[in-house]
Amino acid sequence: MKPLNVGLIGYGFMGRTHSNAFRKVNNFFDLEYQPVLKAICARDGEKATAFAKKWGYESVETDWRKLIARDDIDLIDIATPNNTHAEIAMAAAKAGKMILCEKPLSMNGPEGEKMVAAIKKAGVPNMVWYNYRRVPAVTLAKQLIDEGKLGRIFHYRAKFLQDWTISKDLPQGGAGLWRLDVKAAGSGVTGDLLAHCIDTAIWLNGSINTVTAMTETFIKERKHTLTGKVQKVGIDDACAFLARFNNGSLATFESTRYARGHKALYTFEINGENASIAWDLHDLHRLQYFDHRDEGRTRGWRSIHVTDPDQPYMKNWWVPGLQIGYEHTFIHQVADFLKSLESTKSAHPDFRDALETQYVCDAVLKSAKTGKWEKVPKLK
Ligand SMILES: NC(=O)c1ccc[n+]([C@@H]2O[C@H](COP(=O)([O-])OP(=O)(O)OC[C@H]3O[C@@H](n4cnc5c(N)ncnc54)[C@H](O)[C@@H]3O)[C@@H](O)[C@H]2O)c1
Repeated sequence: MKPLNVGLIGYGFMGRTHSNAFRKVNNFFDLEYQPVLKAICARDGEKATAFAKKWGYESVETDWRKLIARDDIDLIDIATPNNTHAEIAMAAAKAGKMILCEKPLSMNGPEGEKMVAAIKKAGVPNMVWYNYRRVPAVTLAKQLIDEGKLGRIFHYRAKFLQDWTISKDLPQGGAGLWRLDVKAAGSGVTGDLLAHCIDTAIWLNGSINTVTAMTETFIKERKHTLTGKVQKVGIDDACAFLARFNNGSLATFESTRYARGHKALYTFEINGENASIAWDLHDLHRLQYFDHRDEGRTRGWRSIHVTDPDQPYMKNWWVPGLQIGYEHTFIHQVADFLKSLESTKSAHPDFRDALETQYVCDAVLKSAKTGKWEKVPKLK
């Protein structure tokens, strides 16, 4: 196998999911390339060293610029807060490194455009970690839609609900809480959670052309962890929007961190003229499917347990009937990326695909301010 030397930046939640994927991918997928955990980079050297020991990274850097300058690194993996993605990615592209970047691609569309231009100029393989595309049940949904099983699509309905920021005493900013700080996150649930829903939606149902949105910030001020000062909250705590797709279908999207009782309830449902499908992250190995063309007496919603070798990715795992989970979506994404390096085909979603999601997020946030329908800019 050919070694592919990875330099990971950030050892938080995503640093762990990515490291796990790099370590396991060759155990389950037959690939020409093998990721080598060459270096972990984070600002706190002690913590980074502890992470390196735990996960098997060969070396530690505390400045991402030094990591990018190293000749022994082939691929830079960006698992840091949103406001750092652009600078790191553009420097990595300039240095000719392959790049995996966490979502959302950027703080906003214009920043994302610069990233896409840098990647294009450098001609380096790139991918953005919209991992829900790689849940086998979601990939199966994509296959069914592409085969025309649903027929003309009328409706797309997505939700991503959480409840972890309801307390007014929760501070904003700093480790673990950067998502509440608009300067680090760019936006609230729109860029954090709805970006996932939008990426899946575009992948399954094509481009979105117009949106109208409302957002709310329920807790207006929070103490900032780093400054100790009580400061205005700049993120959207909740967002709901209506959308029209290019294919004529209508959509509703909703996300909040104030839905008491829900931790990470990502669901979508799609209704077509012949059939409907529905999926729920809390039950991620199942796809719900209703086909109106079935014989009337036994027609009804089927709950497809996606564990059969005929179903996406599952031949690489256990025996039929035994399911996989969240971590595997990242393993699948690495597998698809490494496979793409064996051919001239690029892996998706790439930076350009992720820019389209960014454009939708921007239009949603704009509409929430203007109170009008806003057009989503077309990708150039
Ligand atoms: N694909 C997904 O489902 C998913 C899920 C969660 C988070 N994310 C995305 O992943 C990214 C990271 O989120 P997270 O939940 O892992 O955050 P986290 O807070 O758990 O970890 C962030 C890491 O970045 C490091 N860091 C911050 N600034 C740095 C800098 N300048 N140089 C080096 N290291 C730096 C921190 O020390 C920490 O290790 C975000 O962009 C987020 O939106 C994606």
